[in-house]
Amino acid sequence: MSDPLVICRGIGRNFQRGVAALRDVHCRISAGARIALVGRSGSGKTTLLHIVGGLDRPTAGSIEWPGLGPFDELRPRQIGLVFQSPSLFPALTAAQNVALPLVLAGEHMAAGANTRALLDSFGLGELADKLPEELSGGQSQRIAMARALVMRPKLVLADEPTGQLDSVTAQFFFDTVLEQLEGTDTALVVATHDEAVAARMATRWTMDHGRLVSEWPRHEAA
Ligand SMILES: Nc1ncnc2c1ncn2[C@@H]1O[C@H](COP(=O)(O)OP(=O)(O)OP(=O)(O)O)[C@@H](O)[C@H]1O
Ligand SMILES: [Mg+2]
Repeated sequence: MSDPLVICRGIGRNFQRGVAALRDVHCRISAGARIALVGRSGSGKTTLLHIVGGLDRPTAGSIEWPGLGPFDELRPRQIGLVFQSPSLFPALTAAQNVALPLVLAGEHMAAGANTRALLDSFGLGELADKLPEELSGGQSQRIAMARALVMRPKLVLADEPTGQLDSVTAQFFFDTVLEQLEGTDTALVVATHDEAVAARMATRWTMDHGRLVSEWPRHEAA
């Protein structure tokens, strides 16, 4: 069996003013996992995703990425991130935003064709030449997801990716995300308040006041 992609041991994250955003979180993400990260607003989902994605460091405990290689090479090659807040570069078109990870990795040749194919599969082809300021919040979120997938990373971390979508659009969009990952061993972790999205994932992690209080099914999250 291959190494787990990520192992968190006893992670804590204290912010200033005594906010304990994470408390003693143990978790493990295996290749191909489909994990819904759920819990009340403020329970620590975004904080955990940022630590798993290597954007933030824990103030207690440890994290390793045994299946993803060196820390400096985690993003964007190994980990694709979709942020909860708007994150498209305002000066770049939608297509240029999606292509950016490939361009930064020197894969200019693949960038155009891969980007077009991905936008088309999400039904977003018509938005390719628009600037972020011309996009709705929900359109921007879907473009950000396409950007996270374009490198075919081993781990995709998506923070409320359907937060600004109506329920029909959210279902179509999420179908496409799962189709894009079908037949790959890419793991997907989605922080979500959308029960329809959470129900599509094989594993559910529930957070409560910074603790990972339930992992279902247990054997997947050991
Ligand atoms: N940079 C920060 N500085 C101080 N406190 C923070 C910071 N980021 C998050 N927090 C606090 O940490 C706790 C967890 O926040 P987090 O954003 O992880 O919650 P969440 O589960 O993602 O919530 P939501 O569902 O609203 O997105 C909250 O109490 C929040 O106020
Ligand atoms: Mg959040």
